[in-house]
Amino acid sequence: MGLEKGDDAGVYRISDDVALIQTLDFFTPIVNDPFVFGQIAAANALSDVYAMGGRALCAMNIVCFPVKKMDISILQDVLRGGLDRITEADATLAGGHSIEDDEIKYGLSVTGIVHPDRVITNRGTRRGDALIITKRIGTGIVGTAIKAGDADAEAEEEIIESMIVLNRAPAEAMARFDVHACTDVTGFGLLGHASEMIEDTDVGMRIFSSEIPLFSGVLDHFSNGLAPGGLFRNRDFRKHMIDCDSSVPDDVYHLMFDPQTSGGLLIACSKDDADNLVQEIRKRGAASAAIIGEVIQSPAGRILIE
Ligand code: CO
Ligand code: CO
Ligand code: CO
Repeated sequence: MGLEKGDDAGVYRISDDVALIQTLDFFTPIVNDPFVFGQIAAANALSDVYAMGGRALCAMNIVCFPVKKMDISILQDVLRGGLDRITEADATLAGGHSIEDDEIKYGLSVTGIVHPDRVITNRGTRRGDALIITKRIGTGIVGTAIKAGDADAEAEEEIIESMIVLNRAPAEAMARFDVHACTDVTGFGLLGHASEMIEDTDVGMRIFSSEIPLFSGVLDHFSNGLAPGGLFRNRDFRKHMIDCDSSVPDDVYHLMFDPQTSGGLLIACSKDDADNLVQEIRKRGAASAAIIGEVIQSPAGRILIE
């Protein structure tokens, strides 16, 4: 499978029954606790395997570390956090590579498998599908508020708890249904990744903005001017595809572009299956899973926000 439509991972068929899923992701710390940073980076990297409908087999550490400036125990904590999530995924740590760098960076290269007939790409939405999201939105805005000293420990705990959770449970729930398309919500924000699902297709989307699950305080933080720069870049990149009803508050429109770290899955399946799939996902622990929109015939290639 190619890379042109921004899918989550590369998929390579090696037999009639098995296709390999390959992906990698790494970034600089977004929290101070090195163990938690390792957990988040690993959950984020593993997520692209789940977004393709697969399961993770092996992972390799990718490490940049300022070994002359920083205590090596910090790196050990990062790697422990990563291993904790790899273990939670029932995957195997198969090695890795580290280099000296000015700033810590950590992530994983992950290999997964999927049956070639069960690959779920981000390009399969059909008219009448329901859109499901499995985690709350707002990690970028809340993270910015934390850095500015404007969010309390409870708010930090809330986004951390969400970011370290694997998307394994919703992926396993998806395997029991006929899911048409899936991607994970990460750096481009909810509307950025939703746009990728319908760009240059013959369908469009309607998003019910009041149904989107949010972290507490997100709207307040945004109103206080606390938002990552990426949010506005995401908006400017995709706004030509989006029609926002005048009844939708401006801050609600904007937080749909908030870049997410280790965000949830965005899933399209038939409306008949949607309630049961949401129940199945919630039963497996993703309590915030919700139906947030639908796939419509026209206008094709556009997203209506209501
Ligand atoms: Co992805
Ligand atoms: Co990725
Ligand atoms: Co090497």
